[in-house]
Amino acid sequence: MATQAMLLLLIFLAQVSFTHGALSDATFKCSSTSIDKPQLSTADILSLEASPVYNYTAFSLGPGTNEGGSYTINFCNVTMSYTHVGWNDTITTQVWLPLTDWNGKFQALGGGGYSSGFGSTYLTYAVANGFATVSTDGGHATGTSTIPTDLTWALASKGNIDWVLLEDYASKATVEMAPIGKQIIESYFDQAANYSYFNGCSGGGRQGLMLAQRYPEAFDGILAISPAINLERFIPAGFWASQVMNQIKSYPHPCEIEAFTKAAIKICDHLDGVKDNIISFPKLCTVNAHAFVGEPYTCNGTERRLSALGAKVVQAAWTGPPGRYGWYGLSKDASLTSYYITTECSSNGTCYASDSDLLDSWITYLVTKEPQFSSKNMTDSTFFDALHYSSVEYASMLGTRDADLSNFKAAGGKMITWHGLADEVIPPEGTTSYYEEVLEQDPRAKDYFRYFEAPGVGHCYGGVGPIPNDAFSQLMQWVEDGIPPDTLEATNGEGGWERPLCPYPSQQQYTGGDPSNASSFSCSEDHQRTMVPLLGDL
Ligand SMILES: *[C@@H]1O[C@H](CO)[C@@H](O)[C@H](O)[C@H]1NC(C)=O
Ligand SMILES: *[C@@H]1O[C@H](CO)[C@@H](O)[C@H](O)[C@H]1NC(C)=O
Ligand SMILES: *[C@@H]1O[C@H](CO)[C@@H](O)[C@H](O)[C@H]1NC(C)=O
Ligand SMILES: *[C@@H]1O[C@H](CO)[C@@H](O)[C@H](O)[C@H]1NC(C)=O
Ligand SMILES: *[C@@H]1O[C@H](CO)[C@@H](O)[C@H](O)[C@H]1NC(C)=O
Ligand SMILES: *[C@@H]1O[C@H](CO)[C@@H](O)[C@H](O)[C@H]1NC(C)=O
Ligand SMILES: *[C@@H]1O[C@H](CO)[C@@H](O)[C@H](O)[C@H]1NC(C)=O
Ligand SMILES: *[C@@H]1O[C@H](CO)[C@@H](O)[C@H](O)[C@H]1NC(C)=O
Repeated sequence: MATQAMLLLLIFLAQVSFTHGALSDATFKCSSTSIDKPQLSTADILSLEASPVYNYTAFSLGPGTNEGGSYTINFCNVTMSYTHVGWNDTITTQVWLPLTDWNGKFQALGGGGYSSGFGSTYLTYAVANGFATVSTDGGHATGTSTIPTDLTWALASKGNIDWVLLEDYASKATVEMAPIGKQIIESYFDQAANYSYFNGCSGGGRQGLMLAQRYPEAFDGILAISPAINLERFIPAGFWASQVMNQIKSYPHPCEIEAFTKAAIKICDHLDGVKDNIISFPKLCTVNAHAFVGEPYTCNGTERRLSALGAKVVQAAWTGPPGRYGWYGLSKDASLTSYYITTECSSNGTCYASDSDLLDSWITYLVTKEPQFSSKNMTDSTFFDALHYSSVEYASMLGTRDADLSNFKAAGGKMITWHGLADEVIPPEGTTSYYEEVLEQDPRAKDYFRYFEAPGVGHCYGGVGPIPNDAFSQLMQWVEDGIPPDTLEATNGEGGWERPLCPYPSQQQYTGGDPSNASSFSCSEDHQRTMVPLLGDL
């Protein structure tokens, strides 16, 4: 008995000292002297700091998910600053390495808005899941809002773009996360990562596509969600509704704008066969906002009627600006009051246009390059000139629209993109039209790149539609086990349902039965021809 107890104690002690040993070994290696400085052919390393961080706690989540929470991690915090020779920029990358239980994988994380990376917001969750991770600041300070809107850094001086910082933001700093992350991982763990991934939404989705297009060998798998491709087109075009509003000098109350959205959903909801406040087939919803003029709505307890001027503004957001440099509008179940029609009202009922910083900043800093410029003062002709200028000036740098992914295919990469059809910032048609171009170049593109529409989902997450929170796991399954995602499993939207998202060009189709059951939906390639309205009520 005594021997057995002693043996157990010995095993216990051995385990304790092993665990302790592993942690202190990991801690010991986490210093600027033990980690080799990465070799970068075009950059000089300015500094590399490394120190262990214990019990770091932060709110964190994966890009394009709504299952965030508070996580506590122990990690080796490597911070590296470098400059491109002759460019006089300073880029800081954060590489966070788990002190224990590394899963052998590398995950680079993107940013959003006018930021190249969100640091802790994405890194903490990825480290908690065992990944070695990296995030870059792109050479300019990051704002703290969900969608950073500051663009002051893009102007070197009045009238002069800071092309270096813009190029760092457009692609260079993103691309460099791969060699930096990989080399630091190899030095710290004495072993290369088994798999490398990039994960990002919005601006981060654009970074993902940029990598597939221009740096096809860097990552085995890329999750590029709600990508901000065609940035130079959709951002200034998104200002069209505000432009119309400023011209007619009529500023609808947010209640009225929301009432137009509700009216459109009421008319179009059933066209996909299920009444669930989701417009799954936006093309079938052809109603014009003017059709709703005169309908009653209640605002703050007072009944009012939808106005013709309100309809004009709302319709502008739905169609987007016309003309050669125009762009798509938002879907009719997308929120218009978040970015495209931003008004505020004082207590006496007078409404005025409030700033839409994301859109205003682009026009101010990248088009007029005049920090004092007020976008509220544009004539229509100035506005259309701005669309034209933005398109020709920035397409090659920021558009991220190269449809030739043959090198990515040859490198064996796999990529998943999904885009919410109720996106309130980036019209999903831009992504759809890009994917169609990819298919035109390579009809078998779905062997390595699949695009999924997410009905009823807003920008990155949000909205009534279910969200594919497991898309990153499904990407890993594709890369590591060769199992491609036939559908993306989506859950946890405000509606609470589970539904399959379908690989484009197929679309999610209600097939009858209980609409809250995922098995009542399937993927159909030709719904518009075969669809029989089978009304399911929720
Ligand atoms: C981390 O937290 C745990 C649990 O609260 C605690 O036991 C441990 O001492 C902490 N470690 C450090 C280094 O603060
Ligand atoms: C990581 O290290 C950098 C540079 O030493 C420091 O500025 C930063 O605060 C550290 N991060 C955390 C989470 O401790
Ligand atoms: C480099 O940048 C620093 C600050 O970022 C500035 O003080 C310095 O003048 C710049 N040097 C050149 C050669 O532009
Ligand atoms: C990476 O893959 C190799 C070969 O399959 C395996 O031996 C190793 O344990 C993996 N590394 C990690 C950290 O999981
Ligand atoms: C709603 O009504 C209250 C009281 O009449 C007023 O104080 C408030 O400003 C109104 N809100 C809006 C958004 O109009
Ligand atoms: C309503 O209030 C705003 C400021 O809050 C003021 O500028 C405007 O003149 C007022 N309008 C009326 C009709 O009283
Ligand atoms: C905008 O137009 C108004 C009225 O014409 C003028 O007073 C104001 O100075 C202009 N603002 C800018 C920033 O151009
Ligand atoms: C969903 O439908 C399937 C097939 O009709 C059925 O087997 C399953 O029990 C249903 N699930 C729920 C939660 O109702």
